[in-house]
Amino acid sequence: MVPLLDVQNLSKRFRGLKAVSNVGFAVPEGKIVALIGPNGAGKTTTFNLIAGVFPPDEGRVRLKGETITGLKPNRVCAAGIGRTFQIVKPFGQLSVEENVIVGALARESSVEAARRQARTVLERLGLADQAARPARSLTLPDRKRLEVARALATRPTLLLLDEVLAGLRPTEVDRMVEVLRDLNRREGLTILMIEHVMRAVMALSDQVVVLDHGEKIADGSPAEVVADPRVVESYLGAEDL
Ligand SMILES: Nc1ncnc2c1ncn2[C@@H]1O[C@H](COP(=O)(O)OP(=O)(O)O)[C@@H](O)[C@H]1O
Ligand SMILES: [Mg+2]
Repeated sequence: MVPLLDVQNLSKRFRGLKAVSNVGFAVPEGKIVALIGPNGAGKTTTFNLIAGVFPPDEGRVRLKGETITGLKPNRVCAAGIGRTFQIVKPFGQLSVEENVIVGALARESSVEAARRQARTVLERLGLADQAARPARSLTLPDRKRLEVARALATRPTLLLLDEVLAGLRPTEVDRMVEVLRDLNRREGLTILMIEHVMRAVMALSDQVVVLDHGEKIADGSPAEVVADPRVVESYLGAEDL
């Protein structure tokens, strides 16, 4: 079967630096795949290449077999990929609900339909009671939830999450893990997530891809990857499993 997302031989240089070097992996439909690796490994750059922030120097990205390489972010979003940003950036002056409406308008043609969609998503993420508050007044865990809500409101078939658990307390991590598991199991949402919280990676992922210095060094089940000596040496050795 054609994977939902198929990334082949992606490379991106920033001046001399090879941020992403010949990276390829596939995300099967209905699965949760984690992208892990040390800081600077090229994880966010890989997301930016998929999401159309900048085109790759080499390589190809396919969604459901269709080439989307080099499309602008709005076209990638329209094709069915929603993403969050590692540095959360809501429209601070707008309310929580308005922020999500902006996401929903990617798919809905009327503000009313977008508002309905926004409310459903806010309910889903446990943010409904914060809907009228200005986004800038939210706590960090709620801003992370809002970031996921904005991406979800675009009704993606593939959701890209960039460190949405970073900075959350263990109980908040557990809550977000439940939300993500539920979206995957009940709604069949396919997820590709960059994540450092290994407890969540182990609990959620079907497959783990590991980057180091821009290169893929491992790709397999969570159990296979954490037992891989290269992964332990480059990344997990320093982590508290
Ligand atoms: N827009 C950019 N311009 C120049 N260098 C960048 C840019 N984005 C990322 N880099 C560099 O590319 C490398 C990979 O960064 P990044 O993809 O953010 O890593 P990760 O998300 O795995 O921590 C780093 O050395 C980073 O400094
Ligand atoms: Mg990053």
